[in-house]
Amino acid sequence: MKIGVPKEIVPGECRVAATPQSVERLRKLGFQVQIETGAGEASDAPDALYLEAGATIVHDPAELWATSDIVIKVCAPDMHPTQGVHESTFMRPGGTLISFLWPAQNESLVETLVERNATVLAMDCIPRITRAQSMDALSAMANVAGYRAIIEAANHYPRFFAGQVTAAGKMPPAEVLVVGAGVAGLAAIGTARGLGAQVRAFDSRKEVRDQIQSMGAEFIELDFDESGEGEGGYAKAMSDAFLQAEVALLAQHALEVDIIVTTALIPGRRAPELITRGMVESMREGSVIVDLAAQQRGNCALTEADKVVVHKGVTIIGYTNLPSRMASQSSQLYATNLVNLLTELGGADGFEIDDDNEITRGALVAHGGMKRWPPPKPKSEPVPDSTPTKRADTAAPIPQEAPKQVKNDLSRWVWLVILGLAMAGIGWKAPESFLTHFTVFVLACFIGWQVIWNVTAALHTPLMSVTNAISGIIIIGGMLQLTGGEFNAAMVLGSIAVFIATINIAGGFLVTRRMLAMFHR
Ligand code: NAI
Repeated sequence: MKIGVPKEIVPGECRVAATPQSVERLRKLGFQVQIETGAGEASDAPDALYLEAGATIVHDPAELWATSDIVIKVCAPDMHPTQGVHESTFMRPGGTLISFLWPAQNESLVETLVERNATVLAMDCIPRITRAQSMDALSAMANVAGYRAIIEAANHYPRFFAGQVTAAGKMPPAEVLVVGAGVAGLAAIGTARGLGAQVRAFDSRKEVRDQIQSMGAEFIELDFDESGEGEGGYAKAMSDAFLQAEVALLAQHALEVDIIVTTALIPGRRAPELITRGMVESMREGSVIVDLAAQQRGNCALTEADKVVVHKGVTIIGYTNLPSRMASQSSQLYATNLVNLLTELGGADGFEIDDDNEITRGALVAHGGMKRWPPPKPKSEPVPDSTPTKRADTAAPIPQEAPKQVKNDLSRWVWLVILGLAMAGIGWKAPESFLTHFTVFVLACFIGWQVIWNVTAALHTPLMSVTNAISGIIIIGGMLQLTGGEFNAAMVLGSIAVFIATINIAGGFLVTRRMLAMFHR
């Protein structure tokens, strides 16, 4: 089976869908790979490297498309600048195309591909589920974009990011505000913190508070009772009242910060306007706004897509191609996403579109001469109702909840009474030696529960590993077996127990140290 990799034709697009490393992996999956000449040049991968990796070089794009069973691309097919025709017309009937496609915005392109009986998988439609993480190109690219947003901001910001105390005076650190803490926002927070800035962040999903805090940023709280959690791992559009309250909150912070990175967007919708002209004008001269939602008209009123605008001393960056500005690394990540998807599809020998596979079904746009998008809703856990609720202080009581609450309280009391009676029974009847051990046991349970319950969720993984290390205490049992005089089976088992418990203890502490180091600054 032949995979074709055309050169991207969208102006300014420097990424490529296969790198020399990914070509090697594709060949291991049984594919032959052909690549258009110069396809990797803008991402530092000349033809020679592809030849070395075992690909063949094709000079004519039409020939490349026509002779490939599967075409992998970054951008959706477009009008070819030198050939004068739309790329989709090159597509071999019955062939397969895998690329970003945005089917909701590109309906006529989807129709054309359906007419050509093409099988089309859109990388932007890979469902955001745990099993699909290695194929999630949107997240991979958003991660790069978040990092690059801070680098672009640093490039335009005329001051230090980290605070400094020098003989000539003290300089405070830059203050950064990140709006929207999805993949891109979290990457921006991490990068800004890494450069030494003070970071605060806001998101309509309160659930991300722990993630924001674990990255060393402050979570900005909005006193408004509306959840931003939507379906399929995405956020939902917020009500007008919420957005108004949010703008008011962000306006206060705009007065204090030097850099704002906005990433607030709901897929397929116009980005909400969260940074008004007035807010821009209220910022200090030299401040920078990087608007990642520029493609959907931006979160800032003054954003212009693909442009850098300076308004009253404030720079507003609206680049829509941030991943392409780090083309070599972005291409590597995207190419790996594609290799993982092609593995999921069965490789060259077992290539199959399986309707029961929720990953490939989610990404499938066209197959067998039919439009297959949008996919049926995934069979996931029902998402809790997230419709806007009234503010807690004005919310009307919900009558049907009341009896349930009373029932819960009653059963709690019944259990407490049973427990009390059981304790009294044990104290009355049990021998004294048992009571001492029992008291230690009960206290250990109680203290252990309290200690673990009070640890922040973000630290639960290091906690588990240190618990693992401590559990190595069983080493004492093994050591006791080794102290006897004669060599016997118990000694052999004891030695094995000591050996394994030592690995547990040393490994547990080592892993804990490395995990805790991630939280240190
Ligand atoms: P995501 O869906 O993971 O994150 C968006 C976040 O914004 C979510 O956490 C959501 O809760 C939050 N949000 C939504 N509405 C909000 C509101 N009104 N106030 C506060 N937070 C709100 O998306 P991801 O993957 O992190 O991408 C973020 C943005 O960056 C998207 O707009 C994406 O299109 C864009 N992007 C831009 C690139 C560029 O070159 N400019 C490259 C890659 C992504």
